Amino acid sequence: MYQLNPLPFSYEELEPFLKTHAIALHYQKHQKNYLKKLNSLLVTNNYDIQKPIENLYKTYNKFPTKVIPNLLFNLGGVINHDLFWHSINPHQKMPPNNLLLDSINYYYKNMENFKTQFNQEALNLKGSGYVFLVKTSPKEIKILSLPNQDSPLLYGYTPLLCIDMWEHAYYLNYQNNKQEYLDNFWDIVNFNYANQFFTTESFESKS
Ligand SMILES: [Fe+2]
Repeated sequence: MYQLNPLPFSYEELEPFLKTHAIALHYQKHQKNYLKKLNSLLVTNNYDIQKPIENLYKTYNKFPTKVIPNLLFNLGGVINHDLFWHSINPHQKMPPNNLLLDSINYYYKNMENFKTQFNQEALNLKGSGYVFLVKTSPKEIKILSLPNQDSPLLYGYTPLLCIDMWEHAYYLNYQNNKQEYLDNFWDIVNFNYANQFFTTESFESKS
């Protein structure tokens, strides 16, 4: 069985951005539920769970057609939440590395404009979903909003950073005030994970 990855912070560490009980609920109920359903579906379909979980994005079309929507939904529910947890950290607010910053400046003029466009995507998102920063090719990035639990991996992009725009992610703290949620997100955003996937090495290995 795939296991829930540990959070990179304790529940209470995200106060006041996200309340302790909101994080506990989000992780222990929402993400855990996606994982439980994914495991159940994989066992039913005799899938080899020894493989890295991301491998499912390369092999999902081998599952019966009627299973695929549920598979992708629950898989995304696990993967996307892991990325979100690694996108925020009140004690490790790592800025983008020079290469990533160069790319942000190239495609979005500057960091402030990048944040404004990212926020706009989030505010424009209809219903539930996420806004991602993705790597589209070795040196290219873009902001991508996706519905429900779709992952950029489905489209061949490398996800670098994201914000969860499902109501369950912010409603307990911000009710319907998405702008405040977004503003506070940037106060604790952590580019550490994004930096690991946006390095000279990754350029060389992928090019
Ligand atoms: Fe969520």
